[in-house]
Amino acid sequence: MKFFIDTANLDQIREAQQLGVLDGVTTNPSLMAKEGITGRNNILKHYVDICNIVEGDVSAEVIATDFEGMIKEGEELADLHEQIVVKVPMIRDGVKALKYFSDHSIRTNCTLVFSAGQALLAAKAGANYVSPFIGRLDDVSSDGLNLIAEIRQIYDNYAFETEILAASIRHTMHIIDCAKLGADVMTGPLSAIDGLLKHPLTDIGLEKFLADYRKGN
Ligand code: E4P
Repeated sequence: MKFFIDTANLDQIREAQQLGVLDGVTTNPSLMAKEGITGRNNILKHYVDICNIVEGDVSAEVIATDFEGMIKEGEELADLHEQIVVKVPMIRDGVKALKYFSDHSIRTNCTLVFSAGQALLAAKAGANYVSPFIGRLDDVSSDGLNLIAEIRQIYDNYAFETEILAASIRHTMHIIDCAKLGADVMTGPLSAIDGLLKHPLTDIGLEKFLADYRKGN
């Protein structure tokens, strides 16, 4: 399973990168705004800064919602850096744009996916990644993890190469459950990744090992 961090915060990206388990970054317009990154030039520069920290894929989202606008923006984003993956919303013109980008060897991440049907369409259009938002489904009493299972089954039935990028991860158990269901990638906050390494028995055990060592030395 690949680990992406879902943030535009450079310090957190550096921290995750230093842990040695980071495979990429996802951003979205809300995450960029949260970091105070505004204005086209600053936004483009920020994407390059992120690419210079990590070695893997960096998702950069288009703002346009019409086909021509998405193509223009997506091509500009893809030209920024070879690590950029163009993030395209699951809307009618977005599906057309996914197909266009696929035909022109520009890698894509289809975002705002909330149903198996949308995921099927994204794969048909040639998306490299599909991003089902499991936390937002959980928020409205829908089973986000069940969507991951449905997409896994559909993609396996037809050997679609689109990677399932479990998004809107809110906590550590989401990561573990997505791994059990066979999601190819997860993108979540640093806190959810950090949660994977914590166990009280590890801390107690280490304390005892060290105390016993000190007794004899
Ligand atoms: C995915 O790429 C999105 O940026 C993200 O996972 C959305 O998460 P949220 O529901 O916590 O905003």
